[in-house]
Amino acid sequence: HRLRRQKENTFIIIRDDRGGIIQSVFRSEKASHLTVESSIEVDGLLQKDPRAPEGGYEIKGNNLKTFNLAQPNYPIGEYQSTELLLDNRHLALRTRRMIAIAKVRASITKFARQWLIENDWMEVTAPVIVKSAVEGGSTLFKLGYFGEDVYLSQSAQLYLEAMIFCLGPVWSLTPSFRAEKSRTVRHLTEFLHLEVEAPWVSLEDILRVQEQLVSFIVQNVTNERFAELNQLKRNVTELKNIQAPFDRIPYEKAIEILQTKGFRIEENGNSRSIKWGDDLNVDSERELTKHYTNPVFVVGYPIQLKAFYVKEDRESLGRGLSADMLAPKGFGEITSGGLREDDIVSLTKRLEEQGLNPATYDWYLDLRRYGSVPHGGFGMGIERLMRWLTDIEDIKDTVLFPRTVSRVVP
Ligand code: 4AD
Ligand code: MG
Repeated sequence: HRLRRQKENTFIIIRDDRGGIIQSVFRSEKASHLTVESSIEVDGLLQKDPRAPEGGYEIKGNNLKTFNLAQPNYPIGEYQSTELLLDNRHLALRTRRMIAIAKVRASITKFARQWLIENDWMEVTAPVIVKSAVEGGSTLFKLGYFGEDVYLSQSAQLYLEAMIFCLGPVWSLTPSFRAEKSRTVRHLTEFLHLEVEAPWVSLEDILRVQEQLVSFIVQNVTNERFAELNQLKRNVTELKNIQAPFDRIPYEKAIEILQTKGFRIEENGNSRSIKWGDDLNVDSERELTKHYTNPVFVVGYPIQLKAFYVKEDRESLGRGLSADMLAPKGFGEITSGGLREDDIVSLTKRLEEQGLNPATYDWYLDLRRYGSVPHGGFGMGIERLMRWLTDIEDIKDTVLFPRTVSRVVP
């Protein structure tokens, strides 16, 4: 991992396969050929030494065997530009920061799975090659498929909906794809998507599943990855206090709060006060959540702001039975979910209103033709959750090999 040469002794900082670090000391002539990132096997005497940089132990080296002598021009050093590190992510993975990030990420998916399995949700997978949009046509990736146009899936939701009629509560953890042209710190073109769907639920049921799942993940990841989170300079005390239930803010209340704070939005070069019907952008989400420590739900967005499948609140027309979970302190949306329109007439109307061709959704409409039930679910972006849990601003650093509009290598 590092080499420190002195006249008589050479200190070799060895990194093991899981990122553990220990110092070894060899007579300099035995290590004179070594370069950083060479792979070696050493034997020696393990000695307690409070001066050793990691863990208070060091290996007083005896024999050293070299498997691969690394070329001396290792591109990753101590102070390097973000771009260079991204260009060399296949090697930058070996930095202590990226190792910590990978471990937190592994714990997040582990505890998400654990909660779902323990609560009797069934794991399923949906196809990634699909014929239709779930989240609007503008972010679809088109593929050539034996002379036919097909797309990369934006969400497994429609397929999970097909499964709940015979498999009950289901979940999947699969990549989703969005042709996002904008470069932002919270959008990837490929992200890991945890999606959950269940029959016979109310909106409140869906919110409860989310807050329990997220609290469980946060508590367990904080315990298991305490050292890594500290290393990433995350305020861990703040995370330890995260607890269900999370506040529910009705959409119109959110707008009111923003109005009282004098929140304005830019529209065609003009600035105006935020009003009912406006979507919540990054800035408004930050404004709403900056004083919270728990995540919050914004509930009941105007239906026209949401996808075609969102069920309209029959008691309050114009409002969707949907909610977004916003992470505190401005990290913004981490989940979207709610109830699905189960009436075929309303669903077909909504498809048409959004300029989508109902014929493309014929199989999906069958799920309303043949024995539909009230149902709902949500989707959570793993990298969005990572950003918040690690306090890492740029989403590119929450995934090992990020995909964005300008990056597909390595
Ligand atoms: O809000 P979205 O678009 O909702 C859906 O896809 C629903 N069909 C999910 C469902 O109900 N089954 O995406 C869900 C979540 C977002 O809240 C966000 O966390 C994440 O996926 N997400 C992204 N993460 C990274 N980069 C992107 N471009 C993302 N787009 C969505
Ligand atoms: Mg959303």
